[in-house]
Amino acid sequence: MTYEEYLNLVAELNHHCVRYYIYNDPIISDYEYDMLYRKLLEFERLHPEMVSEDSPSKRVGFKIDKTKTLKHDMKMLSLDNVYSEGELLNFINRSSKHFDGEILWTVEPKIDGAAVSIIYEGGVLKSAISRGDGYEGEDILHNVRTIRTLPVKIKETGKFILRGEVFLSKENFKLINEERKRKGEPLFANPRNAAAGTLKLLDSSIAAKRGLDIFIYSIEEGRKYKGHFEDMEYLRELNFPVNENITIGHRDTIFTRVKEIGNLRSSLSYDIDGAVVKVNDYEIREILGETIKYPRWAIAYKFEAEQATTLLKDVSFQVGRTGIVTPVAILEPVNISGSTVSKASLHNEDEIHRLGVKIGDTVFVEKSGEIIPKVVKVVEEKRNGDEKDIVFPTECPSCKNVLKKVDAYWKCLNLKCPDRIKGGIIHFASRDAMDIKGLGEKAVDRFFEIGILKNIQDIYKIKHGDIRYIDGFGELSEENLLKSIEESKKRDFYRLIYALGIDNIGIRTAQLLASKFKDIDNLMSATHDDLFDIHGVGEEIANSLIEFFSNEENRELIIFLKSVGLNMRHSDERGSLLSGVNFLITGTLSRPRKFYEELIVKNGGNILSSVSKNLNYLIVGDNPGSKLEKGKKLGIIVLNEEQFLEMIGMGV
Ligand code: IVH
Repeated sequence: MTYEEYLNLVAELNHHCVRYYIYNDPIISDYEYDMLYRKLLEFERLHPEMVSEDSPSKRVGFKIDKTKTLKHDMKMLSLDNVYSEGELLNFINRSSKHFDGEILWTVEPKIDGAAVSIIYEGGVLKSAISRGDGYEGEDILHNVRTIRTLPVKIKETGKFILRGEVFLSKENFKLINEERKRKGEPLFANPRNAAAGTLKLLDSSIAAKRGLDIFIYSIEEGRKYKGHFEDMEYLRELNFPVNENITIGHRDTIFTRVKEIGNLRSSLSYDIDGAVVKVNDYEIREILGETIKYPRWAIAYKFEAEQATTLLKDVSFQVGRTGIVTPVAILEPVNISGSTVSKASLHNEDEIHRLGVKIGDTVFVEKSGEIIPKVVKVVEEKRNGDEKDIVFPTECPSCKNVLKKVDAYWKCLNLKCPDRIKGGIIHFASRDAMDIKGLGEKAVDRFFEIGILKNIQDIYKIKHGDIRYIDGFGELSEENLLKSIEESKKRDFYRLIYALGIDNIGIRTAQLLASKFKDIDNLMSATHDDLFDIHGVGEEIANSLIEFFSNEENRELIIFLKSVGLNMRHSDERGSLLSGVNFLITGTLSRPRKFYEELIVKNGGNILSSVSKNLNYLIVGDNPGSKLEKGKKLGIIVLNEEQFLEMIGMGV
């Protein structure tokens, strides 16, 4: 390959990355991408001195010795907060006093991550600095470079100073903590801490694996238009990741928009902790000016804190499918951002010691997004001396087997322990696994108690008439459950691998195994060497798999699941039903957005990131916002969830 061909290859791969990461609309398969990428690596191995700055290989990370401190060219301000509509109104009145009627406002989500300043020069990503004290921060370019949604090269060659928020999606955060738990490493408290911690790492290959993401929220230098909204559209055109929920309007639209963003909160794949209200016009911003810390032209409306204090009444001990015994705090029920919390995790014995918590204590409980509520602090001032120490059991609360300490956890090692089996069924039916609706924790508990479910096999033995007479269930819930059980047979193969609950096999590993081994027979007969050959599969995973499949009962389970028709084959192909059809989803839907996106992609359709005339269908949920208006103006066909499901033959 000549140097010129190499540069073309770099450009081609970068183009595919944009299609994949920014537009969710790849035009080549993962396999084809891998082949091109290999070619690139081969050239770079032979000519290390020629490696281009914007080569995708630079995204995989490397190790640096120590971090440098760098000065910000322009001071990095923070935002003042308000917590109520009254305070927000005061802010709006104060800032629009002299400009009434003229001001246009933008409202956008406040991303809960870590602030960064990013500089481009000559069309190339040159520098990335953490906020630090606002005047100087740490050089974090090596980690920021791993963010696949952030272009390394852009077509504008002037200087840009951009600001944005680096974050981890809820999904990636969950995966990171699952892995840390498996390895006995301390867990991150929330996605924000995990993102901030990741940016500080010296070894950026770890950051690359964790999957950081970013939204750019301002241009400090290099502006093209007179206002923020237009400039954010401009950044989108340059392939920068800009949040899709930014809207612009007069003051009478602000409160509705703030509420809409609040409603979106749970359906977003990342954490937000408020809405940011900004004056759009840069000239007006200039006149309003700033204080030492905050601009006078923007404010953060913070959503209700997701913490509350309450009484810890007791501690119960739960045995999960892996045998780990988890202490669970039984709380005086308390409302945290709209839902009642009556239980919270205490993780393990070490955590109880770390918190110094006792029964009868008043404690701070935190709920954040998708995460199980947890006790974060004891209010020692509220103690009256009647508090009791928490005593960890020595035998399994379910089967009375003597517990063993394994790493940081106490474990029940009895494979026949009823609670372990029950935990296995709950995991098997859970959303990311076989997604059997109506077979959550409560239902499994009840069916287990009655004897309808004794193991995973029994799920597929449930018949008409088994459930409808049980207290709290009826004909309809029976119908729905049976339908969902039937549907679970068609799930992707990797979900079954994950559902089996094999030690050390999370979703990502399951996906890897499914795509490498293609079907269950290959996977079951894989040798230690076959497994070990796969990049991303280590000793632990290989051992867990070999152990799982050499157990006779597990093999019988697989044979049974095969006999009732579960899908055990990986499919690379995309269906063609929606081939070439472009979709966009907006508003709050009754199921996670990912569910619909997966359906679209699986059927060969594309997902666009904004409303344009290329869009064919707009799928709309509650509180759709400006996309619906724009779509209607362009005459795009609008579908609700049912209509979409009907379109692909999944209607009810
Ligand atoms: S604008 C002059 N927009 O929140 C300050 N900030 O608590 C400009 N943040 O320091 C900030 N999402 O790191 C802005 N859409 C957004 C944001 C956002 C998150 C962060 C930012 C800021 C912090 C203040």
